[in-house]
Amino acid sequence: MPPLTETPEWVLEGRDHVWLPYTQVQTAPLPLPVKETRGTRLILEDGRELIDGCSSWWTACHGYNHPHIVGRISEQLKRMPHVMMGGIANEPAYTLAKRLADLLPGDLSRVFFAESGSVSVEVAMKMAIQYWINQDRPTHKKFLCFESGYHGDTMGAMSVCDVDRGMHQVFKGALIEQHLMPLPESDATRARLREFLRMHHEDIAAVIMEPLAQGAGGLKFHSKETLRYIRETTDEFGTLLIFDEIMTGFGRTGSMFACEGADVVPDIITLSKALTGGTLPLSVAISNERVSAAFINERADTALMHGPTFMGHALGCAAAHASLDLFEREPRLNQVAAIEAHFNAVLPSARNLPGVVDVRALGAIGVIQVKELKNLSWLKDRFVEEGVFIRPMADVIYVAPPFVIEPDDLRRLTDVMLDVTREWSQREFS
Ligand SMILES: Cc1ncc(COP(=O)(O)O)c(C=O)c1O
Repeated sequence: MPPLTETPEWVLEGRDHVWLPYTQVQTAPLPLPVKETRGTRLILEDGRELIDGCSSWWTACHGYNHPHIVGRISEQLKRMPHVMMGGIANEPAYTLAKRLADLLPGDLSRVFFAESGSVSVEVAMKMAIQYWINQDRPTHKKFLCFESGYHGDTMGAMSVCDVDRGMHQVFKGALIEQHLMPLPESDATRARLREFLRMHHEDIAAVIMEPLAQGAGGLKFHSKETLRYIRETTDEFGTLLIFDEIMTGFGRTGSMFACEGADVVPDIITLSKALTGGTLPLSVAISNERVSAAFINERADTALMHGPTFMGHALGCAAAHASLDLFEREPRLNQVAAIEAHFNAVLPSARNLPGVVDVRALGAIGVIQVKELKNLSWLKDRFVEEGVFIRPMADVIYVAPPFVIEPDDLRRLTDVMLDVTREWSQREFS
């Protein structure tokens, strides 16, 4: 693999003007300049191709440049890029709302459109708070959230992340304080959750969580029984339950939605990322009949007080339709099952490496958890040298490839993941 010979001008000139995500720009190595994408590969400016192990933060489930999505967006762009949602309507948004309502389990049926995952979480939180206000029960203002949870980077969303362990610790004093608890995975933590809700349910607007798989908090998985317990307990005390399926939605954990896999239905669900197959920013917060009913009546003051400029973006909604077409026409969930089977066959060989704490797989997520991500830049560089794009984070080296990855590329991706992790663990831990 040749070294990157020349960094293009646009990187050198632009880098003094760009904020990067979660990055100290002064010391960060130069980012890899991507010229184009092709299928499941990133093509760099110097012609090198990387097999993509991240799906651009878990979005590009059909790979990049899928002709059906590109075609649908182009068609929509020519006809009408976007119109505002106040007072006028665009067809892709209205038909998408109906399509999502038909697709989702239970009576999750009224769709609020936004642009990013974080904003849909803000909307879900506002829906939950206003649900109670609209019924003259204004004490329900706080949220119960779980350790290692992640729900986004805006102020409200940060407040329901794990502020003690996660990436937002610096903001702790500036955030609304919520109730952070361990996931109820044992008898003791179950009893604790139930007792907490028994005592405080009058103060709680909703419980919010990522079902089955927590993403940015370290790709931790929990059981379907845990979800069922949370649903039963929230039902017992009349507490609303929000599932943030921004990462898990659209097949990533093996079923179309994680909640379906567990046969549990929340009161509000948030979706984004793979909603448009990773092509355009779009998100939704979708409420069930119980929640919607508290807003929909003759009174003006019970309307939901939110309305982003680009809500229901026509291009994004056209892309989402195309992505859903692909889920209908192509065997995506079978592809996810095959990826999971492959992970389960090969990743356990890392289990006994020095510094490795756990190895796990769920759907199209394969994880090697380590004691500490020492010498992270060495690890990232080695992956690139070997022709794959894998970005370890928190305490995990993980892959979450596009579902359409070819078997040879998948094998290459996990071979490199295992070989480089072995090399790294021997350097750093033995
Ligand atoms: C579960 C979950 N919720 C919310 C978000 C925030 O989404 P966005 O980055 O689009 O604001 C993410 C992003 O990684 C996520 O994984």
